Amino acid sequence: MTATISAKLLEWYDRNARRLPWRVRGEERPDPYRVWLSEVMLQQTTTAAVVPYFARFTARWPTVEALAAAPEEEVMAAWAGLGYYSRARNLVKAARTVAGLGGFPDTETGLRALPGVGDYTAAAVAAIALGRRAVVVDANVERVVARIFAIDAPLPGARKAIRAKADEITPDERAGDFAQAMMDLGATICTARDARCLLCPLQSDCAARASGDPLRYPIKAAK
Ligand code: ADE
Repeated sequence: MTATISAKLLEWYDRNARRLPWRVRGEERPDPYRVWLSEVMLQQTTTAAVVPYFARFTARWPTVEALAAAPEEEVMAAWAGLGYYSRARNLVKAARTVAGLGGFPDTETGLRALPGVGDYTAAAVAAIALGRRAVVVDANVERVVARIFAIDAPLPGARKAIRAKADEITPDERAGDFAQAMMDLGATICTARDARCLLCPLQSDCAARASGDPLRYPIKAAK
């Protein structure tokens, strides 16, 4: 029997995961506060830009209760430079909601109700911090899935088909590691400008590679 896509990808992740400060290694589950904070910061912002902000925020406000107690202006000032300031305002609101609830909601749906938490962020936090099986699709994951399955419909219309395929390959166990492995693969190997197929753990599963023109995917709508 050949290994499934998720098994190959998880094996690759165990050896190649980027060491990012909000990640923990091994069986241990990361703190939902740190995962949520990192995912909000990573909306529209690169990992390189986020790392120093994440370090400063968690040093100054180590828990969601500490952040909930902070004056909004102080959080806004600490956010300066990251951009998209509605994220910082929602961050304080959500922290206060979570502190009022006595902890983070423990389902994807519950997380989705927090200010500033959309489908992507709710799925990411549920999978990474809560160990839930959630389907996590950001732009990197979208590209990787479109390539593996050589999805021939153009974006944005192809999103539904891409999500269905992502759901199909998401494992029941380690869905959070699987999601982060897809993100790492998209950030380091299966990038928008380059498809370094010879380094890819999924090279023999990939329909875009088999087609000879992996960069053709995801197909963009004609302008
Ligand atoms: N981009 C958004 N969330 C991420 C994560 N958890 N790891 C790496 N890149 C990400």
